[in-house]
Amino acid sequence: MATDSPASFRVLLMVTGGIAAYKSCFLARLLQQAGFAVKAAMTPAATRFVGPVTLQALTGHPVATDLWGEGQSEPLDHIEYARWADVVVVAPATADILAKAACGIADDMVSTLLLACDGPLLMAPAMNDAMWAHPAVQANVATLAGRGVEMVGPGSGHLACGTTAPGRMSEPEEILAAVRRIVADLPSEARAVGTEAAAAQDYWRGRRVVITAGPTHEPIDPVRYIANHSTGHMGFALAGEAARRGAVVTLICGPVELPVPRGLAKVQRVTTAREMAAAVTEALSADPQWLVMAAAVADFAPETPAAGKIKKEELGTGWSLQMRRNPDILGEIVPAHAPAGLKVVGFALETSEVQERALAKLQAKNMDFIVANNPTAEGSGFGAVDHEVLLLDGTGVIWRSASLPKPELAALLLQKLAAAEVS
Ligand code: CTP
Repeated sequence: MATDSPASFRVLLMVTGGIAAYKSCFLARLLQQAGFAVKAAMTPAATRFVGPVTLQALTGHPVATDLWGEGQSEPLDHIEYARWADVVVVAPATADILAKAACGIADDMVSTLLLACDGPLLMAPAMNDAMWAHPAVQANVATLAGRGVEMVGPGSGHLACGTTAPGRMSEPEEILAAVRRIVADLPSEARAVGTEAAAAQDYWRGRRVVITAGPTHEPIDPVRYIANHSTGHMGFALAGEAARRGAVVTLICGPVELPVPRGLAKVQRVTTAREMAAAVTEALSADPQWLVMAAAVADFAPETPAAGKIKKEELGTGWSLQMRRNPDILGEIVPAHAPAGLKVVGFALETSEVQERALAKLQAKNMDFIVANNPTAEGSGFGAVDHEVLLLDGTGVIWRSASLPKPELAALLLQKLAAAEVS
């Protein structure tokens, strides 16, 4: 739903290394009080003036400082933060960042984010008056202005170097006013996305969420098993994203070797479908509000796994393996153990009639939502980087994604699920 409320907008506040960095803490507070969602990023030099912990406490989000995932940053923060932002503010903007932005240099978190962001950009320069007057700086400012970058200030006043001259960062109130002006010109579609994102941001905080991920392995003998192509990336991305949004996440994963996302409450590793069923049963006893079954659970397992390695000589020229059905976690375990009010999200891989079959599966297994995709569709296979999914509830398709990488899909799925719940 479109709205003019500032709460609909997400501001990425980027702080570079000048003494005015301390004023950016006030700016973060002012933006929040005005109702904007705020995240921050800092250059290494900025962290010498103000600790990232201060901005983290003020914004309620980790502060992106390092491209390599050190400190509070995750390695792909520059992409995630850039996508998240409706408006980017650089305050204070040093001569250095103006030069990097003008030339497209990306050698730290802030300069890299500037290249990754495509929304409106507001810069609040702050530096010594002689530096500000230098033709190189003025040429960079002109280049940036020519690309539509808005400048606020610098004001004239007492500078840290002891002189009184132009170079002082605009006051936080002036920067806030400039942000408001920019926001007033944003298209209504951006506002709608921002509103939904802001609501979803709060929705997951403190919610208990159980997520399953990966394949299961069903042993044939001690060295062989039956498995599937699931990589676990989707479930891990959902777990990481839910934790980032403040959810209390239990991840139950089959055999995959993926780095465990930060901030999960519990990670339980299982091998077989039966072990996964037991882990889900136990997790349901902790009264979660959501169960997201992203795991590709094997429907059948070898009836009697051999105690020793089966030799081909014993099998002759053919081999038929007796299989038995595994428990259907969503279909059988969840109805018997679900706490009241549990919301259930399932996944479906369908190679034809995707929508119809996913809806039938949702109804058959009593899910609230189902995420469906077609692994044979172009660009959506198991190894593909980008995927297209449909999100359905009991009424049919409620969202059709673009072809996106899984981390981004995970973020949007959580946003859509939250929006569906709060609407
Ligand atoms: N699932 C489950 N327990 C199983 C098998 C699957 O809970 N034993 C869950 C999966 O985690 C997924 C959804 O059910 O969320 C998939 O539904 P399902 O009907 O099992 O899909 P397919 O295995 O693809 O079924 P079919 O072969 O009938 O298409």
